[in-house]
Amino acid sequence: MSSSVVQDRSSLLSDSSAEVIRATAEVVAEHADQITALFYPRMLAANPDLLRLFNKGNQATGEQSRALAASVVAYAVQLINPDAPSFSHVMQRIAYKHISLGIRPEQYTIVGHHLLAAVGEVLGEAVTPQIAEAWNEVYWLFATQLIAEEARLYQQAGIDAAHPLRPYRVVRRIDETQDVISLILEPADGGELPAISPGQYVSLFVDLPDGGRQPRQYTVSSTALGPRLQITVRRVKGANGAPDGQVSSHLHDGVKPGDLLDVSAPAGDFVVQPSEGPLLLASAGAGITTVLPIVEHIARTQPKRKVIVAHADRTAQDHALRETVLHVARELDDFTAHTWYETVDPDNDRSRQGFMDLSEIPLPDDIQVFTCGPLPFMRHVRSTLLARGVPADRIRYEVFGPDLWAAQIPAEDKPQR
Ligand SMILES: Cc1cc2nc3c(=O)[nH]c(=O)nc-3n(C[C@H](O)[C@H](O)[C@H](O)COP(=O)(O)OP(=O)(O)OC[C@H]3O[C@@H](n4cnc5c(N)ncnc54)[C@H](O)[C@@H]3O)c2cc1C
Ligand code: HEM
Repeated sequence: MSSSVVQDRSSLLSDSSAEVIRATAEVVAEHADQITALFYPRMLAANPDLLRLFNKGNQATGEQSRALAASVVAYAVQLINPDAPSFSHVMQRIAYKHISLGIRPEQYTIVGHHLLAAVGEVLGEAVTPQIAEAWNEVYWLFATQLIAEEARLYQQAGIDAAHPLRPYRVVRRIDETQDVISLILEPADGGELPAISPGQYVSLFVDLPDGGRQPRQYTVSSTALGPRLQITVRRVKGANGAPDGQVSSHLHDGVKPGDLLDVSAPAGDFVVQPSEGPLLLASAGAGITTVLPIVEHIARTQPKRKVIVAHADRTAQDHALRETVLHVARELDDFTAHTWYETVDPDNDRSRQGFMDLSEIPLPDDIQVFTCGPLPFMRHVRSTLLARGVPADRIRYEVFGPDLWAAQIPAEDKPQR
């Protein structure tokens, strides 16, 4: 990293605040869970309209609180640490998520107010006016950069942040597997589909039977349907006494052709760059929804490009979109598919048994990897590929939840996005 970049980054923060952040980052990080545990309920109690914006499932599991706190601390640390890796991928992910939800600049005042009040309450008298001021400065530096990036993304996509959603009509519902459906949607306002880069997601806002309204993100699982787009939804079942997934259950049980859904513009940077290099798409479970649009895109635009897909699932019957991916891949000159199932029927299936093991498959040297699935799966994919000599900056990933990976893990284990 060049020293000018280091200089630029650390000079964002005033000298006095940099010193305070250096002295307090660790203690704030240690109390991050307590701070956010206080922050969300307070903010949501004071602003009940925000309940319709925040994902209740992520609130219940605490994942969103941890992601927010971790990102603020990680942002502060990279401001004061000249050797910290670039933070731009974390910033991009948050900004994309925010624009898919219609977050507006004025809401940063509400979040900032409650977050800094929670820091004060948890750390008590230890928070001197200088400490409060330094963290206020960090928050607003972060907020200002996010607001600017979000303004850019809103403008690029032609979105009015006050009206970020469009009504889409469900025109078809496909039962892909026992637990997975696809919904084909078309804009109900008579307008055209927005530009969608393969791998991007949309936020869907649904009105639930209990009167609540909730957003969730779904990858656009096909962009090859002319004026329509497709999403593919796995039903989330509650384990160990936890409730079933609210929105996925509602989409499975309560949504039929003819219904209207509120859908955001496409967002996300899990997107294949145009290059000639070979691609490995490594997915597990619902992560397959990112594979189909990328294979479709390569088949449409670069049919000579080498593509390897590797997918892991419970059984062949649970492997959604399998036939569609294989069908589209017939247009590719150089395509290989590998599958791993926890349970294999040896009479009917030549798939490998067990978890994905990428040490077993031939890979070209200049492979570019896109992986999507549960975090433990992606960790395993990444460590196997690093051990095979694939450089970290060639491995991109998508998390189907708040990204606890990017902001929390030590720098040397940090994946590139
Ligand atoms: C970028 C992105 C792309 C995505 N793409 C897809 C896709 O293409 N296809 C797809 O199927 N999914 C996708 N997802 C995931 C999707 O957004 C939802 O998270 C998923 O459908 C689950 O939502 P839900 O409302 O059904 O579950 P939620 O109600 O949000 O529940 C989620 C989990 O939290 C647990 N939980 C909820 N409440 C409690 C509680 N009180 N106590 C304990 N545990 C609790 C539930 O048991 C469940 O395990 C994507 C996510 C992201 C971020
Ligand atoms: C500097 C200020 C902020 C920071 C650092 C921040 C950080 C984050 C992070 C890390 C995520 C998770 C992203 C991911 O999916 O990986 C997120 C999501 C989100 N943010 Fe922010 N945010 C800020 C301001 C705001 C504001 C002002 C609002 C509006 C009220 C907001 C609303 C949301 C919502 C609704 C989500 C999605 C929650 C979920 O899916 O569980 N954020 N933010």
